[in-house]
Amino acid sequence: MYVCICQAVTERQVRDAVQNGVQSMRALREHLGVAAECGKCARCAHGILKECRNCPRDEQAACAA
Ligand code: FES
Repeated sequence: MYVCICQAVTERQVRDAVQNGVQSMRALREHLGVAAECGKCARCAHGILKECRNCPRDEQAACAA
């Protein structure tokens, strides 16, 4: 599923980024360009970010797969 249409960023890419150390919306924007244009994806991306940040490391790998 696409999270950010403007940058063609998928939910999987967001989850992968969090698994690889991205911990904030600012870092997500710098890393993937999420919410860098119209900003309509910010709420959804933030929800995924929060969900993934709270996962234990071993569950993050399963979540991103
Ligand atoms: S949908 Fe992500 S910046 Fe527009």
